[in-house]
Amino acid sequence: MQSKIKLMPALLMCAFLGQAATAATSAATGDPLAPSARWSAYSIGRAATPPMGWSSWNAFGTDIDEAKVLGSAQRIVDSGLAAKGYRYINIDDGWAIRRQQTDGRLIIRPDRFPSSTSDQGSSFRPFTDKLHAMGLKAGIYSDLGRNTCSQAYSPDKTDLPQGSVAEREVGLYGHIDQDIALYFADWGFDFIKVDGCGLRAYGANSPKVRAGEFRALPPVLDLQSVNRSDIAAVQAEFKEINAALLRHNPDGDFLLSLCVWGAANVRAWGKDYGSLSRTSDDITPAWTRMLTNFDSAVRRELYAHPGSWNDPDMLFIGKGDFDAGHLTEARSHFSLWAMLNAPLMLGTDLRSTAPALMEIVGNADIIALNQDPAGNQATLAYDADDLAILVKQLDSGDKAVAIFNRGLAPIDADLTAEHLKLRKDAQVTLTDLWTKADSTFTGATKLRVAPRETRVFRVHGERTLAHGVYLSEQPGNVNPAVDGVTRPQPDPSIFRSSAGWSGTKGAGERPMYAGWGGARADSTPYGQTLHIGGAGYAAGVGVLANSRLEVRNKGYGRLTAEVGVDDSARDRNGAVTFMIYGDGKLLSRSKPLRWGQPAQPLSANLQGVKIVELVARSTAGDNEQLPVSWGNAALLSPGH
Ligand code: GLA
Repeated sequence: MQSKIKLMPALLMCAFLGQAATAATSAATGDPLAPSARWSAYSIGRAATPPMGWSSWNAFGTDIDEAKVLGSAQRIVDSGLAAKGYRYINIDDGWAIRRQQTDGRLIIRPDRFPSSTSDQGSSFRPFTDKLHAMGLKAGIYSDLGRNTCSQAYSPDKTDLPQGSVAEREVGLYGHIDQDIALYFADWGFDFIKVDGCGLRAYGANSPKVRAGEFRALPPVLDLQSVNRSDIAAVQAEFKEINAALLRHNPDGDFLLSLCVWGAANVRAWGKDYGSLSRTSDDITPAWTRMLTNFDSAVRRELYAHPGSWNDPDMLFIGKGDFDAGHLTEARSHFSLWAMLNAPLMLGTDLRSTAPALMEIVGNADIIALNQDPAGNQATLAYDADDLAILVKQLDSGDKAVAIFNRGLAPIDADLTAEHLKLRKDAQVTLTDLWTKADSTFTGATKLRVAPRETRVFRVHGERTLAHGVYLSEQPGNVNPAVDGVTRPQPDPSIFRSSAGWSGTKGAGERPMYAGWGGARADSTPYGQTLHIGGAGYAAGVGVLANSRLEVRNKGYGRLTAEVGVDDSARDRNGAVTFMIYGDGKLLSRSKPLRWGQPAQPLSANLQGVKIVELVARSTAGDNEQLPVSWGNAALLSPGH
């Protein structure tokens, strides 16, 4: 038996529970803005860069079997994709047949996974051994509730768990420790996706519960209403899952994928609870649905960091609007997910995927953007209904830019040095990562972008800020530990497509993903340009009052910013004091500032400081009406 050794991973346990401890300390002092002197975003698990691999769901739904999964795994290896980083082979919903009532152990569908019956009892160990021997990693699926999504929504029972009501309860609820031990210690999985339908679809009034098919579980997740979701209850379960993951993975080799589709304000807190967190409902192979999912993550650049990524859902390359007849769309989908630092999870039957599509997902230059070690999600340098320009700061100091035409007409886009935060009097070199052609410009250039095309370039030039970096250029090192949002509300900026599964019945998709008012790079929390006292700032961080940003300092000597209440504030009376802390000590503080007053320059010496915290505190006033700006906030090299 090659089970992972069951030792308490003390160090890792502290790493995660430290988070809870900080929260408790803040709660105890009643002051969430007190400096914590630590980086509190999720950093356990193995997600230093976004995970890459394959998942069964988009290709097969619940109609899965071993041959299908291993066939795609084999193609990943044979095609060279594994060597390019695609390593996780994830089984989604549809693998379980029942929970054995004698001991609560889960049983795998024996007809679909024949190797699971070769051990004593039902086991995925032969299957994961095979994947591991191929140099791959293995992923499994479960649910926060007693039952899964397909049990709630599938019109057909063929692939669903069978037996009594209790036997069909294959979700984690009430079995967290037992199931996590089974998946990771006994079966050897390396990745788990935890869905939320069990906490959403099984209320006492749901037709299947009324019909006696399932036990009722009061819903705590309401996708349509953040107000009706019990956020603390959902978080508590993820905490318990994390504690179990640490107990049963002494080597720390696991990933936790949160799948609550942007509900319960998870777009704000997913970064503290899992390696990746879904920002929206499911993608479909439709262009417009891809846009919805893209939009659900693209303005959350400060909520993704190495260790914890925004997840706009798996790739749908290979089907519908992204099939071999739509290579422009397929390239766009891939480029955008790469720029967002989204997980690159292929969702097609790779046994029969066309070479042209294999080439797209195998573009090593685009993959390198996604896997860049700095972990900076791209930020929006230009944002309109038809065209977006996304810029990503790379570890080498170079940048990547994607110019995305969402619409139906070709666009001659102006790309300027300012978009890139590069000097307009120095030459900029562009390398097209699809055609590999090089070009140069100074100041500005025009680039033709075909309908639905995304042009992606690696960029080399001279930085505007020669001896430092704007905070908004490195979102991977900025964590909105407290973003000031006290009453989560739906984000109206997300494109609302028809959902696909419901056709056009009902009233359509309302704004439903909370997150409006969250911290932003180069923008106010409500999408305006940054302005203090009439002066505009192209660079900076916009956040609500009563917020605390954690910044990892990688050897910079000084932090400078021009701070104030943003001109877009509706609260004209609230006074805000800005503070810079270094490893918990106060380094600099502004006077109380009100709407209309000019920005106050702040500067702090960061010598030896590892964690900087930027606190904006207001004693009276309404956070949601009081956006503040850290204009030109920058880290400068020692001596500058
Ligand atoms: C939900 C998830 C999907 C998939 C299905 C499985 O809809 O969002 O990604 O896991 O459940 O039933």
